[in-house]
Amino acid sequence: MRRTIPLNFDWRFVPDFREEYIQPSFNDATFETIDLPHSIKEMPLNNFNEEDYQFVACYRKAIHLEEKLAGHRYLLVFEGVGHVATVYLNGAALMTHYGGYTPFQVDITDSVQEGANTLVVAVDSRSTNNIPPFGGTIDYLTFGGIYREVSLVVVPDQYIENVFIQPFDVLTQPKAKVHVTLSQAGNFTVYITFTDPNGKVIQSTHHPMTGLKDTFVVSFDRVELWDIDHPHLYEVTVQLKAGEIAHDRVTVRTGFRDIRFTKNGFYLNGRKVKIKGINRHQMYPYVGYAMPKSVQKRDAEIIRRELGFNLVRTSHYPQSKHFLNACDELGLLVFEEIPGWQYVGDATWQAVLKENLKEMIIRDRNHPCIILWGVRVNESGDMETLYRETNAIAKTLDPSRPTGGVRCFKGSQLLEDVYTYNDFSLTTGDVILQKVEDVIGDSEAPYLVTEYLGHTFPTKRFDREARQLEHALRHALVFNEYLGCDRIAGGIAWSMNDYNTHEDFGSGDKVCYHGILDMFRLPKLAAYTYKAENTQEPFIRISTNFDIGEYDGSFIEDIYVFTNCDYIEILRNGHSIGYYYPDRETFPHMEHPPIKVSDLFGNLLVELEGFDEETAEKIKAFTRQLARIGGLDKITEKERAYFNDPQMDERAWDLYGKYVANWGQKRVNYTIKGYIDGKMAAEITIGRIERYALKVTPDQSTLRIEDTYDATRIVVEEIGDKDNVVQWGFDPLHITTSEHLEVIGPSLISLVSGKVAFWVKTTGKIGTGTVTIYSPKYGNHEVKIKVVRG
Ligand code: GAL
Repeated sequence: MRRTIPLNFDWRFVPDFREEYIQPSFNDATFETIDLPHSIKEMPLNNFNEEDYQFVACYRKAIHLEEKLAGHRYLLVFEGVGHVATVYLNGAALMTHYGGYTPFQVDITDSVQEGANTLVVAVDSRSTNNIPPFGGTIDYLTFGGIYREVSLVVVPDQYIENVFIQPFDVLTQPKAKVHVTLSQAGNFTVYITFTDPNGKVIQSTHHPMTGLKDTFVVSFDRVELWDIDHPHLYEVTVQLKAGEIAHDRVTVRTGFRDIRFTKNGFYLNGRKVKIKGINRHQMYPYVGYAMPKSVQKRDAEIIRRELGFNLVRTSHYPQSKHFLNACDELGLLVFEEIPGWQYVGDATWQAVLKENLKEMIIRDRNHPCIILWGVRVNESGDMETLYRETNAIAKTLDPSRPTGGVRCFKGSQLLEDVYTYNDFSLTTGDVILQKVEDVIGDSEAPYLVTEYLGHTFPTKRFDREARQLEHALRHALVFNEYLGCDRIAGGIAWSMNDYNTHEDFGSGDKVCYHGILDMFRLPKLAAYTYKAENTQEPFIRISTNFDIGEYDGSFIEDIYVFTNCDYIEILRNGHSIGYYYPDRETFPHMEHPPIKVSDLFGNLLVELEGFDEETAEKIKAFTRQLARIGGLDKITEKERAYFNDPQMDERAWDLYGKYVANWGQKRVNYTIKGYIDGKMAAEITIGRIERYALKVTPDQSTLRIEDTYDATRIVVEEIGDKDNVVQWGFDPLHITTSEHLEVIGPSLISLVSGKVAFWVKTTGKIGTGTVTIYSPKYGNHEVKIKVVRG
C-alpha cells in the first residue's frame, strides 16, 4: 500500500554549489542543518541588495531506507522549489525542474537503495534563468530555496497516478465524474467512496478498470452544496484492487458547487454573488516564501474572516496547497494564476510556462474554491498562438472551469471566458473605473476587475492620518463603483499586503507599500473599508486620534468612521453631541459606507451655550472656514459676511477652540457608540491616556510539529488605558525564547507606529515554550506557547 514519508527535517544546506557536493562520499558536516520550508537566504525587512538571494545553493539529505520493497515505485515529491532544481540521488542526476511555484515528482526507484542514500538538490534562485517570471523587470521579489515541503511516496508499481473529481448537474441531479489515471493498465476494480463532513458515507460504488485512464460517473440523491457561507467538503476515496489484492488508495477532497460567469455577473449555485476580492503575494518578512502550513492558513483566515473578502487572486503564481486547502475550508473563492509578470520569453521560456500551467491545474483542480484559471501572463500583450495553447491546456485538463487572462489595456483579444482587466483609472480625475464598453466594446463577455488602486496611491501603515484616510476612501470609491455596476462581476483590490520588490518599483527600500495590510499583516485604515462592508461582528474604527498636532494648522477637517453599525453617536466627555450616518451620497452602493463627521460641535452650541439653531449653524460654517484658512487674522472683510460683528467673530472662534480644536484644554475624551437596529452594539473611546502598556497577542497558543515545523505570528502593540493602540510608538524590543522556539528574523526589533509583529517557529523540542519580549520601557512580557507533536 501507499506510504508517504515527509522529508522536511534535517537537511544540510550551503549557499553555494560544487560538483563534489553531489557525491555521497562528500562530508557535509560543515553545512548548516535546516528544516523545510527553507529560504535560500534570510533577508532584512527592507534596504538590501536584491542579488543577495540569487545564487546556486546545495541542499543535501540523508535518507535511510530500512527495506527496499520489490514491485514498488519510490517517488520524491517536491511541492515547490524556487526556481530551478536539479535532483541527484546517490551521485546520479535524475531530473531538473524549471519553475518555482509548482510541484514536481522524481521517480527514484532505480537509484534508491536499501540503507543509506544521499539526496542532493542544486537550487538555482537566479533571476537570469530563462523561465517565468524572469526576463523583464518584475514588481515583486522572487526569493528561492526549497520553500515548500518534500516527501517520499512509496507506491506499488501499479498505482493511482491521479484522481480528478468533477461534480456536475449539482443544482438538479448531483453527479460527479471521477477521472482516474493509473501508472499501469491491469485487470482492476476501482472502489469509489464519497464521505460527508461527519464521516458518513453518502455514496459508494465500484467499477472494473482495464485501461490507463477511465471516468466513472457517480450519482447522488442529495448533497450539501459548497458555498462561500457553507463550504461543505466531501472526501472521496478511490481504491484500486486486483481481485482481493489492494494496490493503492488515494483520498482527495471535493465540493459540489455550480459556477457561472455571465454578462451580468458571477453566479454561485444559481445565486448572483458579487466578487469582492483581494490580490495576495505569498511573501513574508525575512524568509520570503518559506512559511509552514498554519501561517499559510492564517492568511486565508485574515482575508475571509477578518476582512470578509470572498475571493483571493494568487498574484502572480500558484500558491501553497495549504493556503488553497484553507480557502476550501473557509469558503474563499480563488482566481489561481500562472507564474509571470508582463514579460513573455522565447520558445524555451514558453514551454516552461505551459508545463507550469499543467502542473498547477493537475495539482489544484479538485479544489472547489478555485473558480477561474489564469492562463495569461499577468499584463502581457496579446499573443494569439501562445494563449490559444494555454487556454486549450486548461480546457483539456479541466473542462469544468472558465479561464481568465489578466491584461491592462483596452480592446485586447479575448481568448478566455472572462475578460479580466486591471483598472487603475482612479488617480486624480473623475473616472473611478472604466466603463465596460469602453474596454471591450459591445462584447458580451463576462468582465472582472482584477486589480485597482495599488501604485496609484501607495500608503504606509506609518503614514500620517490624512493619507491613510485618503487611501481608505479611495478604496471605498472603487469598491462602491464595482458594487453598483451589474456589468462588472466584481473587483479584486491591489493588494492584501505590502511586499518586497525590485529597486525599479516601490519606495526605494525594496518594499511596495500597496497593501491594505503591511508585510506583517497588520491593518492600515483601508482594511476597515472592507471589514465594515463585509463582516458581521460589530466594530468601530475612526480615522483620527483627535490629536490636533497631527494636522496642518491644527485643523482636523472631516473625520470618518468605518463601522458595520447602522449609525453612530459621538459623545464629548460623556455629553452626546449628535448622531451621524453613513455617507450614502458618495457611496450609494455600499451597505456600510464610511460615516463622514464634518461637525464636531454637534448640538453643543444649542445645549451648552444656549444659541438658537440658526446661529449655531452659522457658527459652525464660519469657524470651519476660518479653520481651513488658518484663523481669524487671515480672514478678509468679505468673508466676515456671517456675523459682521467683530465680537461675534471672536466668540465663534473661541467656541471653535473650546469644542472642536480643544485648544489649551485638558485632553478631551471622545466616545463613539455604534448602533444596530437601535441598540448599542460597539463602543470606543479616544482621548486622554494616563497609563501605557504593551499588549502581546499570538495568533496561536499551541503549535504542532507534524510533517514539518510549525510557526505563529505574535503581535506586539503599545496601548493606552482605553485599549487603543498608540499612534506613534517606536520603542525597541528584544525577543528571547525558550529552547522550544526560535525567532524568525532578527530578535531585536522596534515598534513601528505602535505595533509590530514577528513569527516564532518550533525547534523540535516538545513542551511549553516561552517567548519573552523585553522593552526598556515596559520590562519583560512573557507569552507561553505550547508545542505538541502531531
Ligand atoms: C499592476 C501589477 C501588480 C502591481 C500593481 C501595482 O500593474 O499587475 O503586480 O505591480 O500594478 O499597482
